[in-house]
Amino acid sequence: MSATSCNVRVLRQKALAPDIRRLTVALPQEGPMPHAGQFYMLRAWAASESPLLSRPISVHDVDEQERTLTFLYQIKGEGTQKLAHLAWGQTLTLTGPCGNGFDAAAAAKAGKVAVVGGGIGTAPLLLLCKELSAAGCRPDLMVGFRDKVYGLEAFEPYCAKIDIATDTGAVGHHGLVTDLLDPAAYGLVLTCGPGVMMRGVAKLCQAAGTPCLASLENKMACGLGACLGCTCHTKVGPKTVCKDGPVFPAEEVFEL
Ligand code: FES
Repeated sequence: MSATSCNVRVLRQKALAPDIRRLTVALPQEGPMPHAGQFYMLRAWAASESPLLSRPISVHDVDEQERTLTFLYQIKGEGTQKLAHLAWGQTLTLTGPCGNGFDAAAAAKAGKVAVVGGGIGTAPLLLLCKELSAAGCRPDLMVGFRDKVYGLEAFEPYCAKIDIATDTGAVGHHGLVTDLLDPAAYGLVLTCGPGVMMRGVAKLCQAAGTPCLASLENKMACGLGACLGCTCHTKVGPKTVCKDGPVFPAEEVFEL
């Protein structure tokens, strides 16, 4: 699938938590329609300005009728700080959609599906739940946060149920999101979040004999499979997270 670059207009930006922003832009006129698990490289500063690299941000939502594209991201460094200053009417450059995301149509055939996310790793899961639901499979969503919970109302129409865990016990189960998951009850588990969480999910799935797909994150430069900067080691050899992934069979990418 080819990625294209274009300038798009900011339609709105909202703070969901002190360091979390939801940014909605006009859906690019050109290029393929983005799907769950794919991402764009975002840039809102000149080529001569720092940071050197564009920021890879996963697609949170797409509204084909309204022609909008939404990103949910965490302010972590200079690039995302610059993105957080974007206001209505300003433009930014998108390159994408990049990567191989989740195949929701195939996943929906697995029977009962669990979607497990942690923190900002929940960002790509909204479009995933939406695509699963459109394919006739409303998944069970299990999400873990440190303390504050954000963005979950948007998931409600697309999920059979939503279970929450927090490290502090502020909301839902006091503990790990993996405590909520019984993979034996599912035909497939899809996950995105911190590596340690996804590895825990993958371990449970392996023990239960349930297939698991994980969406990885890595530092990226080109986002297009050209620089090999995001290469990860898998059981079937080196793969680029940006082009071969970011979604991989969990047993290929985690030591279990
Ligand atoms: Fe360049 Fe993945 S970021 S190959």
